[in-house]
Amino acid sequence: MSGPDRPIGVFDSGVGGLTVLKELRRQLPNESTVYLGDEARMPYGEREAAEVVEFTRKAVQWFEREAQPKLILIACNTATAVALEIVREESSVPVIGVIRPGASAALTATSRRAVGVLATRLTVRSGAYFRALRDLDPLIDVIQQPAPKLVPLIEAGGARSDEARAAVREYIAPMLSEGAVVAPGVDTILLGCTHYPLVRWAIEQITGPVVRVVDSATTTALAVREVLDSHRLRATGDTPTQRVHATGSLDTFVQVARAMFGQATEVHPATLS
Ligand code: DGL
Repeated sequence: MSGPDRPIGVFDSGVGGLTVLKELRRQLPNESTVYLGDEARMPYGEREAAEVVEFTRKAVQWFEREAQPKLILIACNTATAVALEIVREESSVPVIGVIRPGASAALTATSRRAVGVLATRLTVRSGAYFRALRDLDPLIDVIQQPAPKLVPLIEAGGARSDEARAAVREYIAPMLSEGAVVAPGVDTILLGCTHYPLVRWAIEQITGPVVRVVDSATTTALAVREVLDSHRLRATGDTPTQRVHATGSLDTFVQVARAMFGQATEVHPATLS
């Protein structure tokens, strides 16, 4: 397969990255994609940074071996936060993460320069969003909130449950009343985990229209598009292939993928050595 017609590799710890894949397919319908969810070892957000670095490294090696991609997108904030710089150095393929695009989406959305970041424990601990937002605006108010209950709930198929709504309420309440200098609360909530768009309905129900809820999917797909364009790597054919792989149990993965794409998605097993 020639350079531009090779697929884009998309990686997440589980189903969350499918939210980015969906937007990628929307913006770049001619591109072939290969998705890998490391279902067997999620949630990454509860792990140590060194473990997530090792898992991400294995995932990148899997893509290089199994898919020969032209670009790898780490559609996982946690892996981006702790492993992007490292795997980028090691990989022969360009690697893009979701944190910088997420931060720029939040910056565009906030008018009072007060952003709440909902993310996994490891992403919050890494400070990656705090740094990315402060790089873009050194005076911006950032309130970070770890939301450890959400990924297991979403992976278990409970994204639309009362339990999800209760967990979301618990996590976002402090962001709506504390911290900002100019006025209480944030005006923008950034979904700093690619699983969280699946509970966006609950967040929007609780915040109402005064708070904007943004994620990294649109700006990340845009970043991929820009890289492909500037390096003349856009696919030349119009018969793209889409493959989805996961480690561990495929059952819930298949269910969540079907709910998200509105159609059955074949999921193939993968082994990361
Ligand atoms: N979807 C991943 C993220 O964006 C994290 C899920 C996990 O904890 O494994 O951070």
